[in-house]
Amino acid sequence: MDCLGVIGYGQMGSMLVNGFLTSGVLQIDEVVVSSKSKRSLDACAAAWPGIGIAATNAELARRCRTVIIAVRPQEIMTVLREIVPVMDGDEHIVSLAAGVGLADLEAAFTGSVTRVVPTVTSAVGQGTTLICHGRQIGMNDALRVEGIFSSIGDVVLVEEDELPAATLLSSCGPGLLAAIIEELAGATARASGLSPDQTLVLATGMVTATAAYLRETGEAPSDLIRRVATGGGITEVGVQELRQRLPGVFDEVFAAMLERHDAMGE
Ligand SMILES: NC(=O)c1ccc[n+]([C@@H]2O[C@H](COP(=O)([O-])OP(=O)(O)OC[C@H]3O[C@@H](n4cnc5c(N)ncnc54)[C@H](OP(=O)(O)O)[C@@H]3O)[C@@H](O)[C@H]2O)c1
Repeated sequence: MDCLGVIGYGQMGSMLVNGFLTSGVLQIDEVVVSSKSKRSLDACAAAWPGIGIAATNAELARRCRTVIIAVRPQEIMTVLREIVPVMDGDEHIVSLAAGVGLADLEAAFTGSVTRVVPTVTSAVGQGTTLICHGRQIGMNDALRVEGIFSSIGDVVLVEEDELPAATLLSSCGPGLLAAIIEELAGATARASGLSPDQTLVLATGMVTATAAYLRETGEAPSDLIRRVATGGGITEVGVQELRQRLPGVFDEVFAAMLERHDAMGE
């Protein structure tokens, strides 16, 4: 059987296992997991009775043709040194490690290699997984991985040089937007008698509804702004303030994050 292995049962590894099995794209006997600690493996076995548990990463690599490595970037080379010697070379390695390039992965493994950037929002079946295949990829391996990740949200194929900035938006973006939601809720609480809990509910609902509106109507954000911001009205004042300040703020935020992204794999 063509099993899929997940090395690293942390935030991302557990989310992927949960998503693939809940969506039904994979069956329980098609998934094998290995992780560093017994605690994580016990949690996996308890959450998914019947799932394959490998005692070592090498054992997982012997059992699986597709291997997703979901460890932190600093740990991926250690994992590759453990698994590559027991692999035939016709397997497919899929790396989640931010900042670790295809060239580094292909230097360690001569078979098919793919970089995948997941998003935490796939836990609720939403959001975009970015996929970037290496030079050795075959059509079947590419389609299999794209199909599996399509079960937990959208999939977008990107070139490697597009990956860093796209990562900031689709994968780090939920964290950025959550920070913005906190600020909106905080400002509303400070300007009103409402509690922070109440304003957080209002802010989250408003952001969810705005995203759904844009997606369902197909309107551009500028169209929506025109609908809400009547000339001389309240929204117009706020939008003007944001348009003056936000481009500079976001350019600085992206520059700082790109610098950190580039340093991740070092
Ligand atoms: N979090 C995100 O939103 C996000 C988004 C995009 C990409 N990523 C990427 O996804 C990867 C995983 O991130 P994460 O947030 O899931 O990190 P995490 O929660 O820290 O999980 C990492 C897991 O790796 C396991 N591990 C460490 N060394 C190992 C080894 N030698 N062999 C087997 N397992 C090992 C740990 O196992 P134990 O629990 O057993 O100790 C841990 O569960 C990273 O490369 C990150 O760049 C994350």
